[in-house]
Amino acid sequence: MYQLRFDTPNAWVQCVLEHFEDFLLDHAACERKAGSTAEHFAVRYRDKPELIDTMLEIAKEEIEHFHDVCRLLWERGRDLGPDEPDPYINPLMEEAHSSGDRRLLDRLLIGSISEYRGCERFALLSRALDDGGADSELVAFYEDLAADDSRHRQQYYNLARLYFEESRIEARLDTWLDCEAEVVRQLEIRPALH
Ligand SMILES: [Fe+2]
Ligand SMILES: [Fe+2]
Repeated sequence: MYQLRFDTPNAWVQCVLEHFEDFLLDHAACERKAGSTAEHFAVRYRDKPELIDTMLEIAKEEIEHFHDVCRLLWERGRDLGPDEPDPYINPLMEEAHSSGDRRLLDRLLIGSISEYRGCERFALLSRALDDGGADSELVAFYEDLAADDSRHRQQYYNLARLYFEESRIEARLDTWLDCEAEVVRQLEIRPALH
């Protein structure tokens, strides 16, 4: 399995801990978008049953995550916020091919890498919450999200391997890993998943 090329700085975790409710607003939006993305794949590629099967599984899990984060917000007396432009996924999508099977390969790889980033950040957050003496249910929730995103990363990647040759995947993955690392390096530190 490949590796991400930029580690999330500690300042991000500190910022999220300090403004946790604001973080939850963005987190909810990210789970909702992850669900719609998976659903969109399932609707678009009708001739690929393995892809549809996997994407519907992922979509169900993401919607459940969304619901869980909604509950965390409601427990804190907060409502869902409006959707904001996404400074992480939008620049990646702008670089992606927009047609043909190159589009599918790009979107599967972006899917895998963004799930990997979710996994990295939820694991960091879970550890920091634990160190800070947070509620054990909340610590376990973020630990579970990290595990789910690790699985999603693999599922997106497996689909790429099902439909594309290894050499083609390697070449494109190399580009996307550099691109993602650069996007994350330039992200403003704020209480948001990205
Ligand atoms: Fe999720
Ligand atoms: Fe996920």
